Amino acid sequence: MDTDILEIEGLRFVKAVSAEQLDMITSRLADRINQDYAGREVVFLVVLNGAFMFASDLLKKIEGVHTVCFIKVSTYSGMQSSGEYKEVIGLTQELKDRDVVIIEDIVDSGFTMKEMLERLKEQDARSVEVCTLAFKPDNFKGDYEVKYKGLNMGAEFIVGYGLDFEQKGRNLKEIYKKI
Ligand code: IMP
Ligand code: MG
Repeated sequence: MDTDILEIEGLRFVKAVSAEQLDMITSRLADRINQDYAGREVVFLVVLNGAFMFASDLLKKIEGVHTVCFIKVSTYSGMQSSGEYKEVIGLTQELKDRDVVIIEDIVDSGFTMKEMLERLKEQDARSVEVCTLAFKPDNFKGDYEVKYKGLNMGAEFIVGYGLDFEQKGRNLKEIYKKI
């Protein structure tokens, strides 16, 4: 069944970004990263769970041999940020003197990324940049740069392509927004 509207846990969502658009977005981001890091070895730090599908598509388009590692944090419950940062699966990769690119699903208020960047500072990486699938400029309160942004979204809640509502919808190959 392929429909533009779906229901998750009693809320209605409409298709907002197609699989073709997402493919173009990962290609565009990969081109930039390939150019910016040409000849360098990168540590891609994927933020679970939300970024798993985006990271998988993006990383297949990155040239060369790199390190990919994962971290799992939680700051969200339901549709709201809890304002509390928890590392659920911690970092095991040594980052000292490495070029790091964090791969995240959404930078919304920017709180999660701010907390992560602060903790990563202690690791003495050579450089740290952020690559996010979606960015919500109207909600962003951070004072740091998000260098690689796939999509600018409004404030509305989105699901699909790795993103969930109440742990549902991560499997969808498109992005849907709440109506
Ligand atoms: P922030 O701390 O407000 O920037 O929120 C970032 C985290 O909240 C992201 O990593 C997402 O996991 C989650 N999040 C924020 N907005 C959405 C959304 O619209 N849909 C699904 N998850 C979201
Ligand atoms: Mg997340």
